[in-house]
Amino acid sequence: MNNDEIVKHVRGESEFIDDLDIPNNILYGTVFVSNVSHGKIEKIDIGNALSIKGVIRIIDYKDISGENQIGAIVKDEELLSEGEVRFIGDPILLILSEDRDSGKKALKEIKADISPLPVITDPRESFKAGNLVAPVRTFNKGDVDKGWDNCKFVVEGKVDSGGQEHFYMETQAAIAYPSEKDGVKVFSSTQSPTAVQKSISTVLKIPMNKIEVDVRRLGGAFGGKEDQATPWAVMAALGAFITKRPVKIVLSREDDIRITGKRHPFSSDFKIGLDDSCRIIAYEATFYQNCGAYADLSTAILERSLFHSTNSYFIPNVRVTGISCYTNLPPFTAFRGFGGPQAMFVMESAINRAAEVMKVDARIIQEKNLLKDGDIFPYGMVAKNCNIRLSWKKLDEYSDIENTFKKIEAFNKKNDLIKKGAAVIPVTFGISFTNKMMNQAGALVHIYTDGSVSVNTGAVEMGQGVNKKIINIASDTLSISPSLVRVESTNTTRVANTSPTAASSGADLNGMATRTACKVLSDRLANIAAEKFGVSSDKITFKDGMTCNIGNCDEMVWKDLINLAYSKRVSLSSHAYYTTPDIYFDKEKEKGKPFAYHVFGTALIEAELDVLRGTYKFTKVKIIHDVGKSLDIKTDLGQIEGGFIQGLGWMVLEELLFDDKGNIMTGSSSTYKIPDIRFVPDKLDVQIMEELKNPYAVLGSKAVGEPPFMYGIGGYFAVRNCIAAVSPDKKLPFDSPITPEKVLSYLAFADS
Ligand code: MOS
Repeated sequence: MNNDEIVKHVRGESEFIDDLDIPNNILYGTVFVSNVSHGKIEKIDIGNALSIKGVIRIIDYKDISGENQIGAIVKDEELLSEGEVRFIGDPILLILSEDRDSGKKALKEIKADISPLPVITDPRESFKAGNLVAPVRTFNKGDVDKGWDNCKFVVEGKVDSGGQEHFYMETQAAIAYPSEKDGVKVFSSTQSPTAVQKSISTVLKIPMNKIEVDVRRLGGAFGGKEDQATPWAVMAALGAFITKRPVKIVLSREDDIRITGKRHPFSSDFKIGLDDSCRIIAYEATFYQNCGAYADLSTAILERSLFHSTNSYFIPNVRVTGISCYTNLPPFTAFRGFGGPQAMFVMESAINRAAEVMKVDARIIQEKNLLKDGDIFPYGMVAKNCNIRLSWKKLDEYSDIENTFKKIEAFNKKNDLIKKGAAVIPVTFGISFTNKMMNQAGALVHIYTDGSVSVNTGAVEMGQGVNKKIINIASDTLSISPSLVRVESTNTTRVANTSPTAASSGADLNGMATRTACKVLSDRLANIAAEKFGVSSDKITFKDGMTCNIGNCDEMVWKDLINLAYSKRVSLSSHAYYTTPDIYFDKEKEKGKPFAYHVFGTALIEAELDVLRGTYKFTKVKIIHDVGKSLDIKTDLGQIEGGFIQGLGWMVLEELLFDDKGNIMTGSSSTYKIPDIRFVPDKLDVQIMEELKNPYAVLGSKAVGEPPFMYGIGGYFAVRNCIAAVSPDKKLPFDSPITPEKVLSYLAFADS
């Protein structure tokens, strides 16, 4: 990767929260949490905790001067529980101690008497009990009920997809310092500096201008720090505010896995109808979203499930319903794809079931129904600049899809102990926050008198390379070397009211604000040069750090121009602001144009199954992906490869298990398996369609963070097709992840 952050990462020079120098008077925060998944706190006995050497203070909800509330969308989540606990890990007390060990000792002293209340972990049960986070939502298009009459084949089924632990390398972390006049300065590992600032303001009851939140970089996030970094930062701020000492909270890996939210597990029903030419006539689906104990971002995530329910297909009659269900599990949250993957998995399952019934390859149905320009999505938006068919065609040109399947068939005829399988997976993903308001960003750019440039935006660097992209945008716009540009930490006093770095839109929004700010500066500088050369400013251009007068580029170097501007008392700073144009959504009608544009691509995934062992590997993967005109090709390739592997992990490997009491059964890296380098397919070939400039984002680029995740869905069906090669007539469930353990049980079941 070309991302200059990476060099520092590899050398171990990048500083994360836990690496920051700390003062001697720092206190460590340890959280005492509920050990039952639903109950009423009868009594808390802190025992001798306060007499343990080093323990300074134990904070409970009564110590909160403001509102004990951190719910971002629904006000349903207390920072520290006041009486009812709703999941194992629900925070009750904050212990502050001078070293980490005494905090741990204090934990052992404290006993909570909690009388149990009924526990629900299954979203369908929660639905039956009426425990909904929000009213049920339905997107409607055409007439589904009439649609069934025109179908030759109608099939129904159920689909389950598991949760997913983010497993960011850096666990949740924050350090808060008391600052002058009852303020706080907080270093937080968050995707949402402003959300942290707001919640601190609510809980501490101090105005936002007394709270400075600073974010240098995150050691990974993947959505897990969009909302769920907030409680730890607020607790650190609360501790600092009360004790007037700095407070540091860094979750242990075990606590992070046990306490914080993950990808929402979904349980869904589908019904799909096709005519005898493989055209999908009607599609119906119901998503039961397992929200866990608190709403968190669930309703926004479910909305994206509805938006992406038909993936890359044109379907004339659609009815999709989403239900957000409370359960007594950790509050499930944002995770790369934000509800899209779960819904697309249901669509692909429906197609695969239909294919089984119709005795055709799923790819035939997929290809037949791909979107084209002018097609209307179930939410009313018209497909424009639609490259999904093109990506399929390019994939076919490159890998000869039909021949790949034929070769696999021939191989399988000859081999009993090894079976091969393949799947094609098209992905269409909408770009913009579905909450229109959030599609805004600011940038503040300074040029110093030595010619170096400092860029501040609301974008948070979390390993995705957004800083590198912003550097490229600034250097391109100012026509100077990228080495002159530095991206500063994300800081709420420099760029205010930031949207989270999420929804794949970090570079789109903040990059465009950066470009605008740089353009303003470049125009100012052109005026200065024009004045000096006695020409009109339209004669002035900039190239590679030189000022060009009517195309003659050896006139003046960048630094001299900057000094000239300074000597003429011209401002070398600019703030700019960007909002995504032409997006809207009417929630009454559930229609609108919620996205600036879509990202498209198609992947072919081949797998090989060891029939005796149930183990499998992915032998060959080919991805054709649309990033528009890439802002940084290596960064984009890294995102595509990483996103795909993470999606594949979700679909086949990472099994998040809770028992029926709500205890996590996969609470460590020894029981929860994430992809490692040996899991990566032998041949992973990514090709981007770079000739396609995107008219709707900065410098013709496209967002890249989330869409490639969903190619992982193809891995599920490739493995499934290996099993089908062993036993073609068995009806397998749709239940992800399809772990080797499950595969072995399917094979055993197939033999009986
Ligand atoms: Mo992302 S899953 O929109 O933080």
